[in-house]
Amino acid sequence: MANSRKQDNLIGESNAFLSILDHVSQVAPLDKPVLIIGERGTGKELIAKRLHFLSSRWEQPYITLNCAALNENLLESELFGHESGAFTGAGKRHEGRFERAHKGSLFLDELANTSGLIQEKLLRVIEYGEFERVGGSRSVRTDVRLICATNEDLPDLAEQGEFRADLLDRLAFDVITLPPLRERTEDILLLAEHFAINMARQLHMSMFPGFTSTARQTLLDFHWPGNVRELKNVVERSVYRHNNDTLPVHQIILDPFQSPWRPEQRVKTQDRQSPPPVSTAPVAPEPATPAAPQSSATNGKPVLPLDFKETVQSFEVDLLKQALEESQFNQKRTAEMLGLSYHQLRGILKKYDLL
Ligand SMILES: Nc1ncnc2c1ncn2[C@@H]1O[C@H](COP(=O)(O)OP(=O)(O)OP(=O)(O)O)[C@@H](O)[C@H]1O
Ligand SMILES: [Mg+2]
Repeated sequence: MANSRKQDNLIGESNAFLSILDHVSQVAPLDKPVLIIGERGTGKELIAKRLHFLSSRWEQPYITLNCAALNENLLESELFGHESGAFTGAGKRHEGRFERAHKGSLFLDELANTSGLIQEKLLRVIEYGEFERVGGSRSVRTDVRLICATNEDLPDLAEQGEFRADLLDRLAFDVITLPPLRERTEDILLLAEHFAINMARQLHMSMFPGFTSTARQTLLDFHWPGNVRELKNVVERSVYRHNNDTLPVHQIILDPFQSPWRPEQRVKTQDRQSPPPVSTAPVAPEPATPAAPQSSATNGKPVLPLDFKETVQSFEVDLLKQALEESQFNQKRTAEMLGLSYHQLRGILKKYDLL
């Protein structure tokens, strides 16, 4: 296990992660489609690759395509290829990914929002193992194992009629659902060290000097909405800004946008509701600490009339953001700073969609 983990750089020792690896090893040898589901940055691409390399097709092509990156026409031609002159600009005949992946595996990433036409063509390839190139009438046979990934709830989309249920049935012979990083905190420091050592090497540092215990605690306490990718970014940024190979890294830079000069942020709750009331009052410059709702205030006094609920909410959001930033997004410390219990704080963060 340790060896193969090292080979494809899949790091993790938590039970949740190890049971995913077992699941992958179990389903890999079967010649059946697999669907990988997980929040952004949880490692879906790495798992897809591992599925291929643990399968009997491992010496054959492993081809990938991100379906969200292309419009319907381009996606169709990338998947299925096109004949020469099939459409304006289609010069030579183009081999699609299904042809290139023949005898190997095809990884289709972010396939949740593909159009009805693409879904129909996919269904046909899975059913009959054949398709036509765009602009062609001859059927092309292909033997491809499909691995698909999404961070959307496909059964839900299928129920709403936005994804073909019959296609979902076929794609999801088995489903591997990756746990978010916050649910496998045992892996955080392991991953952080791995990314830090790589970064130190890239920076030609003689060694990675480690993290201070406060830095480690910050990494452990953060909720990682962007999962492993976010952790990688944060660690690499913190090591590079620290730029010292003798003193341990003490500051974890969770938010690169954090700056006293950051332009004023729009309040999330206002963004989602109707536009904020138009205020004719001059907007006061951003203060170092929010003393009162500033968006409609002069000399610290709110200008009436105003929307009471919206103004109070905006003040609360400012306070929460300030406390979160000052505590380096450590929620326990944030709660202490605001005189709230941890659970009260979590409730309020949830209410404002700040979790
Ligand atoms: N277990 C892991 N060990 C080492 N690195 C990992 C692990 N999981 C993820 N990563 C790294 O995290 C980053 C994100 O992984 P990946 O691209 O596979 O995620 P994803 O689920 O496909 O994300 P998205 O939904 O945003 O496309 C990559 O740099 C990957 O190498
Ligand atoms: Mg991905």
